[in-house]
Amino acid sequence: MLSINNLSVELKSSDNPFIILRDISFSLKKGEILGIAGESGSGKTILAKTILNLIRKPVVKTNGSIFLDGRELKDEKDFAAIRGEKISMIFQNPTGSLNPVFTVGAQITEAILTHNPKMQKKEALDKAVALLTEVEIPHPAERMNSYPHQLSGGMNQRVMIAIALSSDPEILIADEPTTALDVTIQQQILLLIKKLNREKNLSVIFITHDLGLLARIADESYIMYAGEMMERITSADMENGTMRHPYTRALKACVPVIGDSREYLNTIKGTITFNGHAFDSKCVFADRCERKTEKCLTQKPEFKDGFSCFHPF
Ligand SMILES: Nc1ncnc2c1ncn2[C@@H]1O[C@H](COP(=O)(O)OP(=O)(O)OP(=O)(O)O)[C@@H](O)[C@H]1O
Ligand SMILES: [Mg+2]
Repeated sequence: MLSINNLSVELKSSDNPFIILRDISFSLKKGEILGIAGESGSGKTILAKTILNLIRKPVVKTNGSIFLDGRELKDEKDFAAIRGEKISMIFQNPTGSLNPVFTVGAQITEAILTHNPKMQKKEALDKAVALLTEVEIPHPAERMNSYPHQLSGGMNQRVMIAIALSSDPEILIADEPTTALDVTIQQQILLLIKKLNREKNLSVIFITHDLGLLARIADESYIMYAGEMMERITSADMENGTMRHPYTRALKACVPVIGDSREYLNTIKGTITFNGHAFDSKCVFADRCERKTEKCLTQKPEFKDGFSCFHPF
């Protein structure tokens, strides 16, 4: 239903443009939970923002097309019609995303009325309580009168999800929705997103830097590095370690395992590359890759059969 084709985004502020996203393509099917993972700075948030046309100069889309239900989204008018309507987004920091001076009830009701300008106030209030019930907030009618600072981070993330659902979207983009929460609450939010996916057939793009998390929520995931797609992998393959790309392997090796007695956590040697035209004919991960050969330094691997690497496992 959503397809992203050859998307490239650059930072155009200097003579030496920095490529934030390079030639990204993927599609999201109805009712699917698709994961997107990558290190900090790999371009995950910019990807989400580009899908909703929320990037601003000097960050510029230089190539690519976005189709929703078979129709291309071309100008801001097309995006404005779907943003917060057919596609909703939730962010990492729920408490900071809510307005501290209004009750959560007022904020949900306002969102509902924005999407349904003809709805009566009473009906909107009822719908707000129904949404709070749907996101499993206890005593929803009473919680309507609470301010964001009176609720926990996990509760506020549920409120954000309720606001995101107020337009009855078909797609939810969740950008690190549980990163600021402790693990127990994280698990509850994951279960909630799964429930919404199952019961409402909501399609989800779940963005995180945490591979372990993806295996628990996503059917299939894309692994990004420095603005490029490295690999597409099912959660089952990720769990049993049959990844093809050296980067995905290295990233998986960094996920701590319960009961692990190592004194130090694994890390990938080196730091994330700033992608630029120097990598037009070179693998972007080569500098940190243990399998690199001469070929990787003089040619760029294409994304084919689910990975972009000349020397896959
Ligand atoms: N407005 C901007 N101006 C300049 N550079 C930007 C801007 N927004 C993002 N970038 C750069 O683009 C790259 C991708 O950023 P992005 O926020 O998408 O990363 P991310 O994968 O979401 O990271 P994180 O896991 O830390 O959220 C980063 O190198 C970032 O510094
Ligand atoms: Mg981000």
